[in-house]
Amino acid sequence: MAESFRATHHFLTSLLITAAITITTLKSVHTTATNTEFVKSSCTITTYPRLCVASLSTHASLIQTSPKLMAHAALNITLASAKATSVMMVRLSSSSQLKPREVSAMRDCVEELGDTLDELRKSIGEMGQLIDSSYEVYMSDIQTWVSAALTDENTCTDGFEGDDMNGKVKVFVRERILVIAHLTSNALALINHFASIHG
Ligand SMILES: *[C@@H]1O[C@H](CO)[C@@H](O)[C@H](O)[C@H]1NC(C)=O
Repeated sequence: MAESFRATHHFLTSLLITAAITITTLKSVHTTATNTEFVKSSCTITTYPRLCVASLSTHASLIQTSPKLMAHAALNITLASAKATSVMMVRLSSSSQLKPREVSAMRDCVEELGDTLDELRKSIGEMGQLIDSSYEVYMSDIQTWVSAALTDENTCTDGFEGDDMNGKVKVFVRERILVIAHLTSNALALINHFASIHG
């Protein structure tokens, strides 16, 4: 009798554990789907939705369904991308194969990118401090800085206009800067969206 009670007890316990694991797994599958869906639908308000989804889906579990975290993650990604490009351009500008005019355009661009990095870092810093009492001041700072970052990126590309510039270098820089500009534009759209629903 005691034997069979123990066996039944053991069986029920395993059953309960299995059920609990199944429910947890299903919940997490459902949450992952919800988070990914949120990123996709938020991206539809940006100018470059495909780039938005491609760059932010991997952060879906961190973003969950928060418009604020979505904007914050978009800024993070833009900063990381601008940093990588800046490092790469510093390296390129010391290449002996570049003409002096190209080296000088590259250096100017690195400087503009440096400003972009500062503006993005400041924005990310304030994004983390947004609280209701100072919300409007911070938000307006962030919007100003991210717009300024966008202008700096365009100025950078302008330096490479002109027929005397090496075609390959020009295309390379343009493509890299364009990606950063598009990421920045998307981040700004997500920030503005967050600001609009915050009221
Ligand atoms: C943004 O980056 C910071 C620093 O790396 C990190 O702590 C934070 O979790 C990131 N936030 C989002 C929403 O990606």
